Amino acid sequence: MEYSDLVKMAIKARDNSYSPYSGYKVGAALLCKDGTVVTGCNIENRAYGPTNCAERTAFFKAISEGNSSFSAIAVSGGNDEPEICYPCGVCLQVMAEFCDPDKFQVICGKSPDEYEVFILREMLPKMF
Ligand code: THU
Repeated sequence: MEYSDLVKMAIKARDNSYSPYSGYKVGAALLCKDGTVVTGCNIENRAYGPTNCAERTAFFKAISEGNSSFSAIAVSGGNDEPEICYPCGVCLQVMAEFCDPDKFQVICGKSPDEYEVFILREMLPKMF
């Protein structure tokens, strides 16, 4: 799977974002080691605290369906047009639970030809 295709899927997943409180739409596309891609979006709540980020939606969907081996995740945020969005600390901690920090790739994309690639350890260097 090309990174550009994964970014495209993350951007498409933004369309389902439920974000009436922040207006900030996030989509994620999680690539599993078996080649499956599981997408997710942010889902907000009027009580704020129950809000779930796009990345965690994708992880929890995949794990709950029995898929817990991952190689990469693409993320795209933005109010109107897609823009680069870096995962929050809580999502990085969830990634750290299930992914190899030196191999798992985090792809932060604005478009299929404009994205930044990191390994998980770069984003969460002193992990718990
Ligand atoms: N959000 C995500 O979905 N992923 C991130 O990596 C950063 C933040 C969501 C949470 C909230 O719904 C909105 O973006 C604004 O913070």
